[in-house]
Amino acid sequence: MKKFLDLISEEMMNAFEAAGYDRNLGKVSLSNRPDLCEYQCNGAMAGAKLYKKAPIMIAKDVAEKCGESKVFLTVDAVAPGFLNLKVREDFTADYLNEMRAEPKFGFPVPEKPDHIIVDYGGPNVAKPLHVGHLRSAVIGESIKRIARYAGHQVLGDIHLGDWGLQMGLIITELKERQPELVYFDENYEGEYPEDAPFTISELEEIYPTASAKSKEDAAYKERAMDATFKLQSGVRGYRALWDQIMKVSVTDLKKNYENLNVSFDLWKGESDVHDLIPGMVDYLKKEGYAYISDGALVVDVKEETDTKEIPPCMILKSDGAALYNTTDLATIMDRMKTHHPNRLIYLTDKRQELYFEQVFRCAKKTKLVDEDTELLHIGFGTMNGKDGKPFKTREGGVMRLENLIREINDEMYRKITDNRQVDEEEARETAKVVALSAIKYGDLSNQASKDYIFDIDKFTSFEGDTGPYILYTIVRIKSILNKIKEQGGKENAFQEKAAVRSAGSEGEKALMLELAGFQAAMETAYKETAPHKLCAYIYGLANAFNRFYHETKIVTEENEEKKSGWVALLVLTRDILETCIDVLGFAAPERM
Ligand code: ARG
Repeated sequence: MKKFLDLISEEMMNAFEAAGYDRNLGKVSLSNRPDLCEYQCNGAMAGAKLYKKAPIMIAKDVAEKCGESKVFLTVDAVAPGFLNLKVREDFTADYLNEMRAEPKFGFPVPEKPDHIIVDYGGPNVAKPLHVGHLRSAVIGESIKRIARYAGHQVLGDIHLGDWGLQMGLIITELKERQPELVYFDENYEGEYPEDAPFTISELEEIYPTASAKSKEDAAYKERAMDATFKLQSGVRGYRALWDQIMKVSVTDLKKNYENLNVSFDLWKGESDVHDLIPGMVDYLKKEGYAYISDGALVVDVKEETDTKEIPPCMILKSDGAALYNTTDLATIMDRMKTHHPNRLIYLTDKRQELYFEQVFRCAKKTKLVDEDTELLHIGFGTMNGKDGKPFKTREGGVMRLENLIREINDEMYRKITDNRQVDEEEARETAKVVALSAIKYGDLSNQASKDYIFDIDKFTSFEGDTGPYILYTIVRIKSILNKIKEQGGKENAFQEKAAVRSAGSEGEKALMLELAGFQAAMETAYKETAPHKLCAYIYGLANAFNRFYHETKIVTEENEEKKSGWVALLVLTRDILETCIDVLGFAAPERM
């Protein structure tokens, strides 16, 4: 289906042409004076110079050609030369009915779908998820879902930090505590035990302990580096122990991401490209891209147009060790070979902006990616507390994600049970669902690159621009529909062929116009990888619905035809809201 605004523009372009002007002047936009009109066209203003004519004259010529329009209800030429537009009620209703009949409300199937990999999450094995991991997961998941909705082929890859010194540290500390473990017996040739010799909580305690020790004790660090080397060169026992660490850690990560309604298609990590690095290094050297500088192997990535200094991309340190860059480049190479994506999207803190600039330039320059493969880094801002500083626990420590979620769940539970008799179990379930909307919408409704303040009171409120408000609106629609269904009877408003009818009030019209803007909102969110624009859209839609609801007695309406038209309108509103929150990564309960 064509976008609503495009249809309106086409009609206006025809009018410009009919009046003897360039049709391209006829582009229509949303009104910035909603008190005067619904849409506007400023083409006459732009045409004034071209035709050496007062803009109001042009506007009047054009308005005259719109007399018989099937699209416009009114076209007013107003000084100094604007065209103020209102669209016809039947045109709007027809459009919505077409939306209802089409799959995905008429959202077009792309001619050539993009093949996308979204690299998000990026947790490090054996370290608990904390609030710093929230944004990558929440925004990445939504970008993945929006792209999928828009008809593209998308894979989400968690890109685990599962290699390098951090693993050597854990192994060293384990050896310190349990030297008798069979994993450390060099002469052992049998099968290794099935169960891990530690739990996830032990693992989470082991890493920080080992990391702290290595900073104070040079010999300890030496042992950790040696363990890293042994692991990476494939020593059997070390590999088996690493497998155990991965198993325990990934099980825990899966549970945590599941609680966030976040899931990955690929659970690949830095370790997966270890074996590809020597080949890549050879290639970079052989093709003359990489050279030795101060002992390290680097690729120059600066460009003439740079206004700031872009340092070379380091491929190997002077001791020959691979770096974060190296694994990212090898991962790009691997992804190109295995999946042939034409877009790679990365989500990390925006402090990694320069880093990704270097890596992307290096990948392009060295032809590790095809020329037409787009590499996109979405750097997000910091989640701050009410004091404007990075979010912390009350004690000032780093907040574990689990605890943050628990806190919001409890707050939501309090709000839901406040002054009400509700079933405990149901309330707990509902609180969980609503809490997730509070967290995710609170994050997603901000432009990703900006810092934002995580304000629990605000985010969990049922009023204002919040997740719970959106859910409340959906639940309200569901409850109205249920009531009407219960009324039953032969002349039930739930009729097979019931259609949305021409609006009978301004509030109803406003709601209908919001619904008609669905395709444009989803398209923009995809093209600009901007979930916050979809949030702004559903907030506007929810507001329009609630206005209509307060102005209209729906359930007690006696005219069944009118009522069934409203049912169709409500169903469409509910479905569009639910579609949007689904791509944002949360859902609505049946009741709340
Ligand atoms: N594990 C990394 C960290 O904790 C984030 C990984 C981001 N993704 C990437 N392809 N570099 O900082």
